[in-house]
Amino acid sequence: MSLVIKNIQQDSTLALSRPELMRTQNFIDGKWCDAVKGGWHEVNDPATDTVFTRVPDSTAEDANAAANAASRAFKSWRNVSARERANLLKRWHQLILENSEDLARLMSREQGKPLAEARGEAAYGAAYVEWFAEQTTRSTGDVLVPGTPGRQQMVVREPVGVVAAVTPWNFPLAMIARKIAPALAAGCTVVAKPAEDTPLTALALVALAEEAGLPAGVLNIVTASRTGTQDAVGSWLSDSRVRKLTFTGSTPVGKYLARASSDTLKRLSLELGGNAPFIVFEDADVAAAVDGLMRGKFRNSGQTCVSPNRVYVHDSVYTQFVEQLKAAVEALRVGPAEREDSQIGPMINGRAIEKIERHVLDALDQGATLITGGQSVRNDVADGPFYYAPTILGDVTASMTLNCEETFGPLVPLFRFTEEQDVMTRANDTSYGLAAYFYTQDPARIWRVAGQLEAGVIGINEGVVASEVAPFGGIKDSGYGREGSHYGLDDYLQFKYLCQGNLA
Ligand code: SIN
Repeated sequence: MSLVIKNIQQDSTLALSRPELMRTQNFIDGKWCDAVKGGWHEVNDPATDTVFTRVPDSTAEDANAAANAASRAFKSWRNVSARERANLLKRWHQLILENSEDLARLMSREQGKPLAEARGEAAYGAAYVEWFAEQTTRSTGDVLVPGTPGRQQMVVREPVGVVAAVTPWNFPLAMIARKIAPALAAGCTVVAKPAEDTPLTALALVALAEEAGLPAGVLNIVTASRTGTQDAVGSWLSDSRVRKLTFTGSTPVGKYLARASSDTLKRLSLELGGNAPFIVFEDADVAAAVDGLMRGKFRNSGQTCVSPNRVYVHDSVYTQFVEQLKAAVEALRVGPAEREDSQIGPMINGRAIEKIERHVLDALDQGATLITGGQSVRNDVADGPFYYAPTILGDVTASMTLNCEETFGPLVPLFRFTEEQDVMTRANDTSYGLAAYFYTQDPARIWRVAGQLEAGVIGINEGVVASEVAPFGGIKDSGYGREGSHYGLDDYLQFKYLCQGNLA
């Protein structure tokens, strides 16, 4: 059966004000090009489960050409003044803002993110670019107190070199922006591979970087299918010119990348899976906790690594909490991402739906109670196979699968607890350590609980915590490295110690 590709640039429902931002080629050494072997990879609209365009299915040859370009460009880019690098990043930031509506529409189409949220992500991703543009000129070293008379000793920081950025589908703009921007700010050059489900937003971002005046070879991007990805990224893993790999995605893939890149001893930043606890203590402001959970849990329809995955509610406020949460969840509007009023879009694909269904059925089989939802949705508005009703399950226990696996969908499992120490043990009883949240009005408890929770990011009376000014990243099986803040720049710099002797 031959594949019919709709020309999205003439698709009035997408309505880009600059149709040329929908790029469907690789960008290597300043040129847009097809894959060397001529392969193509289809891009799907999750709202309807139909293919709407295609991008190159790159292989090791394309990835290697990108690494050649980045390696050549590094020699000059590292010596471009920090001020000039900052100015280029600022121009890129400005262009992202000016074109944010087009970026949001592309993102909604390929990822299924509700349009209002996609606009928010364009601003969120742009904020990282602006932040690192500002940090470019603020990277400093140290002058040491000499250990021996007649010496000057100092530490300077240098760019690590060529960086490979491999990014996920759930935040197609923000995740790649918060990897590329610090890399360029530090003086590194980049080879990037966006998620196979969502290449278009990343390609549009790169087109805007080109428009901002980034020199050829400094930023290169190749797209690929799942199979092509193994070949393309595999060539970077074994390439000793690629000095750093930054990856956001699942823990098994992160561990594989760490093993597979060990021969070339790359620097790694791995932002991996989560299994975030969300604890509502007996002294919490219940309305605020419901609001925080709604914002944290249903962001991107629950497809977020920092999404609360296990919600522990103190027995004494359980009924009140459930009542308010149920009303809020039942008011959510499920529909295609491109409708202005949709709050829950389609899941990314059929595998996502299967996982949610598996978690719900397993919990119900083991005695959980269905408070609302619990099924996929198909109606006149949400007319596709990948919609799932926002769901609450009550009386969930630790033996259920959703207690140890990240659901990545609009499912809230509620656990009851009575003792602080018991809930701390249960919250930390996971191999993951990305985010954790809790609600309480007791200042002593705030510092006690924050100190005990095993996670890289903690929300205290707050359900949405990520920000360009703060370090984002996990511990344990959630990975290592930080994105955002001045620590985020350090991930792309290495120390060099200089010692000058015979000065006496
Ligand atoms: C993620 O889900 O990986 C990132 C979420 C965020 O930036 O808040």
